Amino acid sequence: MSKPKVFVTRVIPDKGLEMIRDYCEVDLWQDELPPSREELLKRVQGVDGVLSLLTDKIDGEVMDAAGKQLKVISNHAVGFDNIDVQAATERKIPVGNTPDVLTDATADFAFTLMMAAGRRLIEADHYVRDGKWKTWGPLLLLGVEMKGATLGLVGFGRIGKAMARRAVGFDMRVIYYDPMDKEPSPEFNATTVDFETLLEESDFISLHTPLTPDTRHLINSESLAKMKSSAVLINTSRGPVVDLDALYETLKEHRIFAAGLDVTEPEPLPLGHPLFTLDNIVIAPHIASASKAARDKMSWMAAKNLISGLKGDRLPNCVNPQVYSLK
Ligand code: DGY
Repeated sequence: MSKPKVFVTRVIPDKGLEMIRDYCEVDLWQDELPPSREELLKRVQGVDGVLSLLTDKIDGEVMDAAGKQLKVISNHAVGFDNIDVQAATERKIPVGNTPDVLTDATADFAFTLMMAAGRRLIEADHYVRDGKWKTWGPLLLLGVEMKGATLGLVGFGRIGKAMARRAVGFDMRVIYYDPMDKEPSPEFNATTVDFETLLEESDFISLHTPLTPDTRHLINSESLAKMKSSAVLINTSRGPVVDLDALYETLKEHRIFAAGLDVTEPEPLPLGHPLFTLDNIVIAPHIASASKAARDKMSWMAAKNLISGLKGDRLPNCVNPQVYSLK
């Protein structure tokens, strides 16, 4: 019997790739850069499954280019704003994602950014390398202390809660805003507040919300203006949640203390971007989930979703489970 055909849009860790190779005939996109739209539309033709990354826009056109035999789309990410889920549901195609396994890696990295931005780590490193370090100084590179600070979490899902757990060890007060979380969460020692209160009271604000029409540019000039002048803003969610033009103006005028971004709009951020002229920002290339362990598990989970879909089984992690009642 011939194996199902799949298109895998980039090299993923071996753990998942080997599983996929065992079960499928794999067309693997080997370049460092994602396939162009044209290539994507060409390579999906006739496949039974697609394993996509967050850099691949998978919409109805791609699904139709694949053809009616397309059984599953497996996204190698927990976020799935790159996929038109409604278009997939209309075509009865289950879409998989990789929740949980990257929660801790992502929360660890958000804390890394909080400390790097709050304690001016990158600036300090440049200071040393540039030969500016002449002596110990009581006023040298002063930053924001974590102990007793208020951490404001926008989004209190898996990663938001992992942040709250970490904050306990730093003796922080935690408040959160999450329109989806209606239940109080006493086990987390975190208090739910409205968005405005969160902006006004937080010393650190960390974003853990999916990208939706409601959260696009949630952080804009208006919301930035409500933050403390000592506040540190962290984004490890999706770039478009923050309006970078507004952030640039705010940081340039020192209306907040600093920012740490793992995600930007666009990605990659072009080299001439004005944010690169500022010292009070740390920018990473979307690597919050990039611990080896988390990426291995993501690839394994994405492979499991893909193969389950090809077999006609329910995906272990499906973002549109309503497809099963349509069948
Ligand atoms: C995700 O999984 O959505 C992250 O942004 C990438 O690791």
